[in-house]
Amino acid sequence: MSAQQTFLRDAMRRLNMTRDSFAERIGVRRRALDTWLLPEDSSEYRTMPSIVEKFVGEILGREAPSGESTQSAHKSLAERIGVSGKPHLLSVDQFSRDSLEDLFHVADIMQPIARRQKISRVLEGAVLGNLFFEASTRTRVSFGAAFCRLGGSVCDTTGFTFSSMAKGESIYDTSRVMSGYVDALVVRHPEQGSVAEFARATNIPVINGGDGPGEHPSQAILDLYTIGREFSRLGKLVDGAHVAMVGDLRYGRTVHSLIKLLALYRGLKFTLIAPPSLEMPAYILDQVSQHGHVIEQSHSLADLKGADVVYATRIQKERFADEAIEGYTPDFQINEALIDKYCDSRTIIMHPLPRDSRPGANDLSTDLNNDPRLAIFRQTDNGIPVRMAIFAILMGVDKQVQHSMRDAAWRAPSHIGPDDASFDGLD
Ligand code: NCD
Repeated sequence: MSAQQTFLRDAMRRLNMTRDSFAERIGVRRRALDTWLLPEDSSEYRTMPSIVEKFVGEILGREAPSGESTQSAHKSLAERIGVSGKPHLLSVDQFSRDSLEDLFHVADIMQPIARRQKISRVLEGAVLGNLFFEASTRTRVSFGAAFCRLGGSVCDTTGFTFSSMAKGESIYDTSRVMSGYVDALVVRHPEQGSVAEFARATNIPVINGGDGPGEHPSQAILDLYTIGREFSRLGKLVDGAHVAMVGDLRYGRTVHSLIKLLALYRGLKFTLIAPPSLEMPAYILDQVSQHGHVIEQSHSLADLKGADVVYATRIQKERFADEAIEGYTPDFQINEALIDKYCDSRTIIMHPLPRDSRPGANDLSTDLNNDPRLAIFRQTDNGIPVRMAIFAILMGVDKQVQHSMRDAAWRAPSHIGPDDASFDGLD
């Protein structure tokens, strides 16, 4: 993303305006604004006149809500989101809407690196320890790739079997020992609360990569970042959105984190559709309803009618004994026919992945793969800039990234996947 795109996205986010209302506010045509928001290598990209940039700057100075951003301008973002004064990321409860949107701004700055146009070495010499005691592909690799793209290196361990925990080592000892070897830890562990225990035993940044059925904060942050970018293209705001969450809402940690993060916005409607034994835990519903959102619980996919976002999840079979799940029948599957029946062309379909594509799994169908509403691979792509932003913030280099960038020497394809929708890169 060019500096111009980053500036305009940040302005719209801080003013909480859609592209249409922002274009009207600054007195330009929507089409002109769209061309300024295109990637620099697009043939339709245009440079925004400097008078417009100045005007937008003035509007921001006057009208952008003076929330936490100004009040705590003397504090770094790491200090504002930290846990007991330490730069950890354990739960989405650490965020306010302001600090979250400031993180999104850092993620926007990372986009040219994520898209392989630029390189940066701000984390040169730093080493990441990736400790994964549960299955993972995208979380482990994307955290590792994000760290490498900032110039750091990565050491990985996977599974209990090959770690000293299989010999009875405590979380405290493992965490303290690792802290002498590496500069940040990403930990995934099957027990809820375990990653916080790792964090208490060290002063280096610890990031929760999933603690059993507890939380998965980085996934929720990238999900909300994706929703923001998709909504920007569609002319929608997160405030007032209708979000349907579907599947295993009891054990699915991604939805636990996401619903709490969305609750920082205003006037949302949540439709929570799960089989009877897999409903969202009451403690999360209580927390979300305190913010005054509408929550409807259902066992039927017909209730996703009118949703702006359909967020599907996998049944977390590894978290309970192998029993048949009441109500989880083939008609519980999100597929093209269902989406065409209940949703319009401006609905987006998301999933944290992996989806279970085996017969009888009833997970998100592959028949939507060429449907532009399917945002799952834009979601995974956004994992890189968001995780780069998390590292840069927690390790105190977020202000240095912009000026550290150099052109990449190699060429990457403009569309990474063969089925990527034509508007990819145009969002
Ligand atoms: C999820 C997880 O591990 O919580 N995957 C991910 O990190 N994107 C979802 C899942 O396993 O179903």
